[in-house]
Amino acid sequence: MSLLKVSDLRHAFYGSRVLNGVDFSVEQGQFAGLVGPNGAGKSTLYNAISGLFIPDSGTVEFAGRDITRMPAHERVALGLVRTFQLARGFPKLTVFQNLMLYAQDNLGEGFLSSLFGTRAGRESEEAASEEALSIARRLNIHGVIDIPVSALSGGQKKLVEIGRALMSRPKMILFDEPMAGVNPTLTRQIAEHLFALNRDGITVCLIEHDMPLIGELCNPVTVLAEGSHLMKGTFEEVVNNLEVQEAYLGARKVDA
Ligand SMILES: Nc1ncnc2c1ncn2[C@@H]1O[C@H](COP(=O)(O)OP(=O)(O)OP(=O)(O)O)[C@@H](O)[C@H]1O
Ligand SMILES: [Mg+2]
Repeated sequence: MSLLKVSDLRHAFYGSRVLNGVDFSVEQGQFAGLVGPNGAGKSTLYNAISGLFIPDSGTVEFAGRDITRMPAHERVALGLVRTFQLARGFPKLTVFQNLMLYAQDNLGEGFLSSLFGTRAGRESEEAASEEALSIARRLNIHGVIDIPVSALSGGQKKLVEIGRALMSRPKMILFDEPMAGVNPTLTRQIAEHLFALNRDGITVCLIEHDMPLIGELCNPVTVLAEGSHLMKGTFEEVVNNLEVQEAYLGARKVDA
């Protein structure tokens, strides 16, 4: 049984069809890749999987449950988390505060009751605080933990975005171009973080335009083009496939 299974997903925005019957699945423990030309519908597929909108038809299943119509925060509670192409969060708050905000889904009422000063609430808040510190150390952003996110470099913001995802103790993380616009040194570091998270048991799906990086990290690789599934295979199978090469705007060979 696949951990994540998307079947025949269809959606149109204002009459313009963006998802045209997408089939997509990721098995437990995999480090999967999702590629495709600009505008292929990759981020939109993540939006449907994470509950930002309800698709016109088709299903999304996670860990054997149909979550197609489930509210986004309930999907997070099940362990399905995504990051955004452009880092979100609250720029005026510190790194620590940003991480703590995302503990709520996980710690639920215990965390909320900390606002009312109960013992369970305080313990819950302490646990979340420990977790935020440990995640910041792991991602090497503990040195800037009390700095407002707006003062961080682009790369550090990407790390906060990863930390935010980790705060909800995910089973699976959908990463949307976590290395885009980041310098080569930090790209390497982010790649190593993702690799380590996967090694620790988190199932990963990565959207990325850098093909050598996809080749290094991902197996299998799924190609989306014009809102539908084009193929799924190893990186070599994908880059050597003629249809895939044609989908990349007539390029005869994917830049690998
Ligand atoms: N909420 C929306 N309303 C209208 N159109 C949308 C919406 N969301 C996505 N689209 C359209 O859907 C298409 C696919 O966009 P999407 O962002 O999913 O592509 P992508 O594969 O992630 O591309 P990129 O690699 O450039 O990030 C685009 O034409 C986009 O304009
Ligand atoms: Mg996108």
